[in-house]
Amino acid sequence: MSQRYAKITGWGKYVPERVVTNDDLARMVDTSDEWIRTRTGIRERRLRTENDTTSSMSVAAAQQALAVAGLTPGDLDLIIVATSSPDYLLPSVASQVQDMLGARCGAFALVAGCSGWVYGLVTASQYIQSGAYNRILVVGVEIISFALDFTDRTTCVLFGDAAAATVVEASDEPGGMLSFELGSDGSGAMALYVPDGGVVSPISQRTVDERRQYLRMNGQEVFKFAVRTLSSSLKRTIYDAGLTPDDIDLFIPHQANARIIESAARQMRVPLDKFYMNLERYGNTSAASVPLALVEAVEEGRLKDGDLVAMCAFGAGLTWGTAVIQMGTGEISPAHSLFSLGRARYLARRTSDAVLDSAQSALLPLYTFWYGRRKKS
Ligand SMILES: CC(C)(COP(=O)(O)OP(=O)(O)OC[C@H]1O[C@@H](n2cnc3c(N)ncnc32)[C@H](O)[C@@H]1OP(=O)(O)O)[C@@H](O)C(=O)NCCC(=O)NCCS
Repeated sequence: MSQRYAKITGWGKYVPERVVTNDDLARMVDTSDEWIRTRTGIRERRLRTENDTTSSMSVAAAQQALAVAGLTPGDLDLIIVATSSPDYLLPSVASQVQDMLGARCGAFALVAGCSGWVYGLVTASQYIQSGAYNRILVVGVEIISFALDFTDRTTCVLFGDAAAATVVEASDEPGGMLSFELGSDGSGAMALYVPDGGVVSPISQRTVDERRQYLRMNGQEVFKFAVRTLSSSLKRTIYDAGLTPDDIDLFIPHQANARIIESAARQMRVPLDKFYMNLERYGNTSAASVPLALVEAVEEGRLKDGDLVAMCAFGAGLTWGTAVIQMGTGEISPAHSLFSLGRARYLARRTSDAVLDSAQSALLPLYTFWYGRRKKS
């Protein structure tokens, strides 16, 4: 069988109509627009209206993605829905989406926190590259507000609801998925979790009294993990594709916090304007975050045929997922050929980055100490 490539050929999004600004939240909890903006970069987010469900939002995004790809639901071979906020514990929301779309194919949901859509994209590309399937719908969707405690200012200001969908198709032309990395560090599970509602601690009166059905987070732990992971995983995955950070046309990081993204750009010595951001308008939409940013980057004309894109999400688990893709059907960068100038540049940059990485890892505890002192003073 000739080599097959997995390409994103369709994209779509759905965001709820209801806009909630920082000032709106400041009327609910002890916070301010100034605090939220300076600590996170977020100005507003969308929260579901009573008509929005995880399945309805997925279907709205999926219909757009299918239209862009020029496909009908009947053309799909598989549906993957990444979410931590399904309509029901059972059945899988992916089956609801399959039925509502009118598709006739397998469907499953996956949970990898905010990294879910990248996990789904990588999974889809494996089915395609193996020859098993030709057309797969991958949705990232979240009504994370259902798990937010709107009396807890440390979490409720950070998140928003959204859905984004992509169609991944088989192609004989080089491009599409070039490299990926999926990671998990379950030792950090309690840094971002929902205490009750699972087998270990089912919902009870105590749950409700102590608000244990809501998300809890150790913000600083997650922040340190994110800063560490974003730049290092992006670099490893870019090098795996035989590219350097300079070759990447657009970085699409998880839209959790502008400070995390700024720090990754600094560590990678990449201009910040190459990092796409829309978190100002949506906050952290968890599994929908990276695909929503991808869709908007395309809509805004930030991506064209042949562009190289590096995406990285991180979140509960703790997990991370990184993928380097080439949009459309353009040629792969010259860094792929063995004795090119691109190759020499690639090797030089890879070596200097490895040295810098070691230095940065050694300095991170010092930075954390310094940042903590600066905040106290
Ligand atoms: C949550 C986050 C923005 C907090 O920023 P921070 O600079 O670390 O702030 P701290 O947690 O140190 O809190 C500093 C102070 O602000 C207060 N604070 C926290 N949230 C606040 C809010 N919304 N408004 C006002 N004050 C707030 C804290 O109570 C603390 O007060 P204290 O010093 O009197 O105890 C940051 O840690 C973060 O972004 N972490 C990563 C979160 C994330 O990305 N999660 C999702 C991953 S998928």
